[in-house]
Amino acid sequence: KRVAILLSGGGSNMVALLDSMTGDHPARPCLVMSNAASAGGLSKAAARGVPTAVVDHRPFGQDRAAFEAELIKPLIAAQADIVCLAGFMRVLTAGFVGLWTGRMLNIHPSLLPKYRGLHTHARALDGGDSEHGCTVHEVTPELDEGPILGQARVPVHADDTPDTLAARVLTQEHRLYPAVLRRFAGGSREPVLLP
Ligand code: GRF
Repeated sequence: KRVAILLSGGGSNMVALLDSMTGDHPARPCLVMSNAASAGGLSKAAARGVPTAVVDHRPFGQDRAAFEAELIKPLIAAQADIVCLAGFMRVLTAGFVGLWTGRMLNIHPSLLPKYRGLHTHARALDGGDSEHGCTVHEVTPELDEGPILGQARVPVHADDTPDTLAARVLTQEHRLYPAVLRRFAGGSREPVLLP
């Protein structure tokens, strides 16, 4: 299976995914793409010999379809079978998502269905949650809605800030996403539930 990874930032999840696709793993990376030329993940991907691409969303303004018409091109050229969103911060339209039904994954930093959207760690703290975590799900047109493929849980500490909690969750993201991708690329949708 050929895996394309989309990111907007530093790409620590992308690195974890790249480093996991070795040996008898059923998938190999074929592309790392960003909407931002400044994304730190691009140089990390290049350093690992993975082809990269940038499609800057800014010239397209609010015309999401026009942006996505460009975004799809490197994915087709790379013959991607699976698309992993890893800190990709652009909302994708139903039209684009529909082309990847059952083949697009995302990692979200909360225990979905709790805290869809942004600022999940602050919201978990504000909510007084004793437990938090991250979720890998199939991407569907509804934001952060699709079938859950994996979750990892972390305790919330009384003295946590959004940053300390985010760091604890991120560590689990780097365990969860590779575990889910390996199982998913092998043809199973059995959820991965990490303690
Ligand atoms: C992480 O906070 C993750 O929860 C979310 O976006 C961020 C990605 O970080 N999906 P990185 O670019 O993978 O380091």
